[in-house]
Amino acid sequence: MAIQWTDSLSVGVTEIDNQHKELFRQINVLIDACHKGKGAEAVGETLVFLDRYARMHFSTEEGYMERYQYPGLDVHRRQHQEFMDNLAEIRKRFEAEGPGVHIVVITNRILAGWLNTHIRRSDKALGDYIRGLGQAEQRG
Ligand SMILES: [Fe+2]
Ligand SMILES: [Fe+2]
Repeated sequence: MAIQWTDSLSVGVTEIDNQHKELFRQINVLIDACHKGKGAEAVGETLVFLDRYARMHFSTEEGYMERYQYPGLDVHRRQHQEFMDNLAEIRKRFEAEGPGVHIVVITNRILAGWLNTHIRRSDKALGDYIRGLGQAEQRG
């Protein structure tokens, strides 16, 4: 079962929205690889790719937060760390047990679920803040 990015997940900042779409895509590739019984190498590669991309994405958002002195930075950064911890946990289980249904289950439940909630709550709040600043600037 694929997870889907929809307009209702838009935070209103194109760069962040595009990265979210790519994150969803990669999570789907991972789930798909496990479902189709792809080998350990293919699944391992998608996990490495996802790890790298998530790191990049979080540092993009944290860069915005630093640049615009976002008051919720610490809390938001801790949430990102939580995702990376979950991903590390999945990689550990993968290394111990190989690819299989357990990866699909935790990826769906933890990664996809986390991403959905985090975007709706925390990233949208950040997007609103950034767009609010833009409007303040325009008003001069
Ligand atoms: Fe975030
Ligand atoms: Fe995000």
